[in-house]
Amino acid sequence: MTTAQPGSQWKGIVLSGGKGTRLYPVTRVCSKQLLPVYDKPMVYYPISTLMWGGIRDIMIISTSEDMPHFKELLKDGSQLGIRFSYAIQPEPKGIAQAFLVGEEFIGSSSACLILGDNLFHGDASFLRRALQEESGGTIFGYAVSNPSRYGVVEFDKSGKAVSIEEKPKRPKSHFAVPGLYCYDNRVIERAKALKPSERDELEITDLNKAYLKSGELRVEVLGRGMAWLDTGTPESLLEAGSFVGTIERRQGIKIGCPEEAAFRMGYIDARQLMRLAGEAGNSSYGQYLLSIAKEETGGLIEDRG
Ligand code: G1P
Repeated sequence: MTTAQPGSQWKGIVLSGGKGTRLYPVTRVCSKQLLPVYDKPMVYYPISTLMWGGIRDIMIISTSEDMPHFKELLKDGSQLGIRFSYAIQPEPKGIAQAFLVGEEFIGSSSACLILGDNLFHGDASFLRRALQEESGGTIFGYAVSNPSRYGVVEFDKSGKAVSIEEKPKRPKSHFAVPGLYCYDNRVIERAKALKPSERDELEITDLNKAYLKSGELRVEVLGRGMAWLDTGTPESLLEAGSFVGTIERRQGIKIGCPEEAAFRMGYIDARQLMRLAGEAGNSSYGQYLLSIAKEETGGLIEDRG
């Protein structure tokens, strides 16, 4: 008997809606989540994070204008041994709305939501652990120098989360809540029960507060070795690009490469990776895929595309 991978019971959602107004004019005719972060589209990073966690059933939520581009880029996912579905968020009415848009897709599963502009780099075991939980919710805390920009979680002396606030003027801690949220199936009814905030959005922070109030929220602090970056402003986009470029050039590995995640997680074999490498042409990305496929097979499989 094979043991199911932790994430296999989970549905993943990548929320790539919004107008990206903080990046205008770049985002006037192009979705923010399709902009490059160093050498690949931004959305590759969150998708890879879910895949490294073990999730193989992923819904992309975007706007009606941008959807054709996402579909063209990502297809149905079978090339990566996974499944992509697509849903339109008619108007950006808050992060928690993703669970209403994705209600049918989630069905009776648990749901892991990641924001399309959030980039994680590091050992994926933090996510795998969260995906082993069968009930309640798991969110994360990450030390930042500018917590007021984010949801902020406060801990008591014993390390228990005691409050969460959205973009507080006077943050009670320096722990931001990254855009990666794991919930049991009750998230759908809880999202339905939310009231729109002053800015007329269903706030993810209100959803987290509901889980916190009922004592069902775990908050795991991401340690020093983890990198979490967001990419919503010109500065943060540039910083994320240089971070990725620095690590990739130094180590000769790629961050946020769904094809590699698919291969290393065993969703596709070396032959399929070769095929994908062929499709990437003579780019450094294609060369990279080829090198992994060859390394793993000792060069036994020829590059026949
Ligand atoms: C959103 C959430 C915030 C979270 C952040 C992570 O804010 O509302 O709680 O910390 O994502 O990226 P936004 O960046 O959309 O303003």
